[in-house]
Amino acid sequence: MKLSDNVKYVGVNDHNIDLFEGQYIVPNGMAYNSYVIIDEKIAVLDSVDGHFSEEWIANIRAELKDRTPDYLIVQHMEPDHSGSISKFMEEFPGAQIVSSQKAFIMMKNFYGDDYSDRQIAVKEGSQLELGSHKLTFIEAPMVHWPEVIMSYEESEKILFSADAFGKFGALDVDEEWACEARRYYVGIVGKYGSQVQKVLQKAKNLDIQTICPLHGPILTENLSYYVGLYDTWSSYSTETDGVTIAYTSVYGNTKKAVEMLAELLTEKGIKVAVNDLARCDMAEAVEDAFRYGKVVLATTTYNGNIFPFMREFISTLAEHNFQNKIVGFIENGSWFSTATKIMKDGLSKCAKLTFTEANVRILSAVNETNVEEIKMLAEELSK
Ligand code: FEO
Repeated sequence: MKLSDNVKYVGVNDHNIDLFEGQYIVPNGMAYNSYVIIDEKIAVLDSVDGHFSEEWIANIRAELKDRTPDYLIVQHMEPDHSGSISKFMEEFPGAQIVSSQKAFIMMKNFYGDDYSDRQIAVKEGSQLELGSHKLTFIEAPMVHWPEVIMSYEESEKILFSADAFGKFGALDVDEEWACEARRYYVGIVGKYGSQVQKVLQKAKNLDIQTICPLHGPILTENLSYYVGLYDTWSSYSTETDGVTIAYTSVYGNTKKAVEMLAELLTEKGIKVAVNDLARCDMAEAVEDAFRYGKVVLATTTYNGNIFPFMREFISTLAEHNFQNKIVGFIENGSWFSTATKIMKDGLSKCAKLTFTEANVRILSAVNETNVEEIKMLAEELSK
């Protein structure tokens, strides 16, 4: 794959992976992107997962023919990008490795070697001349790890954006960008909104025509769409007006209340997304909670706590800096109901949450009083 006469794609697709980062299902696999800039000097930007070292080296050799790389630029040390560094350094003994100081420490910890006699440490504003191409490095801490740097190439106006603007899914599968980019962003980078905002501010000073992320497609057109979504996500703003309902139900009674609420909201013309936390992909439900402006949580009291899937859901939201939402509650308890209190406690550290006045309290099965409560909750959520 070619970006231009001098910049080539040398990444790989992974269709063998079961869980990305040990937890995210990736039905369409994953791409580990890598790029090579060919000039008087040759730079390769990032290695790939260690299972694909041979294929990656072959891709580089195919593009370079009888030349060899001068530099390996390591923007991020997570093993999906650093797993083939050792192979590269063995294969190309004349190459130097360019990265942040923090990355070299991680390199030694992960792989037992920081290539001290072959390393070039860079920081914010450092530059690397390749000939007519010149890379300027941008520190991007916590997008997604502390050592991350991005690289801007001035002559072709390319931002090599590390994990930012990435998505789940291999590149040989055609799918909508936003859906899997949002699930990736919220799950993996979502906690670090303020750090993403800082990088977006820096990017405003650059003339960017192409974004080359470490996962997902190279972005060449309509960049304001992608940057706009990143701004929405990282500022924890509402992307989609509407309500998402996340629930658990043991015998179907809580589910019945959820379905009634969803129907009433839909009748009012409100967009609704419902997730059964015991059965859905939890990362999709988390993504929806960040995407929509209003969230309803429905669960049962269970062992003096709340049903386990809801407990996990709320702790995942809190851990990811969930904020700036209107939240309503449906609780169910057959002899002692404390679920709403426990759910509110679980969200107590989240900023800028407004809890609805109307809530639903079921005592085993939905009764006439609950029907009225559900109507009041729907009314409040529709305002
Ligand atoms: Fe794609 Fe944070 O690694």
